[in-house]
Amino acid sequence: MTDPLPFDFDEINYWSELKLEIVEKYGSAYTKAFKRFPKLKKYYIDGFSGAGAHVSKTTKAQVEGSPARALKISPPFDGFHFIDMNPRKTSYLQTLCEGRSGVQIHTGDSSAFLIKTLLPTIQYKNFNRALCLLDPYGLHLDWEVMRLAGQSQAVDMFLNFPVMDINRNAIWSAPDRAPQDGIDRMNRFWGDDSWKQVAYVPSRQANLFSSPDLIKQPNDAVVTAFRERLKATAGFEFLPEPLPMKNSKNAVVYYLFFASAKPVAKKIIEDIFKKYR
Ligand SMILES: C[S@@+](CC[C@H](N)C(=O)[O-])C[C@H]1O[C@@H](n2cnc3c(N)ncnc32)[C@H](O)[C@@H]1O
Repeated sequence: MTDPLPFDFDEINYWSELKLEIVEKYGSAYTKAFKRFPKLKKYYIDGFSGAGAHVSKTTKAQVEGSPARALKISPPFDGFHFIDMNPRKTSYLQTLCEGRSGVQIHTGDSSAFLIKTLLPTIQYKNFNRALCLLDPYGLHLDWEVMRLAGQSQAVDMFLNFPVMDINRNAIWSAPDRAPQDGIDRMNRFWGDDSWKQVAYVPSRQANLFSSPDLIKQPNDAVVTAFRERLKATAGFEFLPEPLPMKNSKNAVVYYLFFASAKPVAKKIIEDIFKKYR
């Protein structure tokens, strides 16, 4: 066994700990449901896996990350794909997975790997299915990943919709002053720039001589439109109301989306979300 590259564990907030609990609970229900379909292969995909361990900001204790929790689930998944662009984290994760078969760890950009290599192999017609966690810190994901996942009809997806990054870097009260980098990242996440029509509406005060000001819309409008987009454009049929993850000041840090092609998946996650709303 080689020593992992040194790094400091990420400190995570309590809302990240809640997300971990939710994904673990759903993962347990997910693999159990496959007992009735022994011919189907079931995979776990963690697009932003981290190192597999964190430190809790609240208690300072070590907390198991999403890959470590997925590995514990019983009955087990048939295979695991962990992706992170930080080589120190994937190197540590490698040591956590020592002795475990069916684990693939990829160091690099998640979107590129998922679009080109992994998601095209997960298809309803291929008799395989996947539970996929897409959990970036911010707008670091390409819409094509979500579209492929939806089109496959074979992926159940958890998605972190990063409203805090969006409000800090892309959707501003003065749209013409928003940073270009944030707008580009938002376009990539959304798949095009149609979010602007949802995020801003013209004020009524415009007259013949002035162009209307654009009024920034509340988070709800953007979140609702994104949910609709996951349904209509990506093709996920079953999407419960996303779960707002709030900080101690009651501000929403991100929305936890869940999307699936199966009605039973929606029912299970709604029962879990209910306990956390
Ligand atoms: C919120 S953390 C993941 C936490 C992990 N899913 C968990 O719950 O234990 C986000 C991770 O994404 C990684 N990351 C950031 N940008 C990335 C990218 N473009 N592709 C792959 N990983 C990325 C970071 O190194 C970080 O470990």
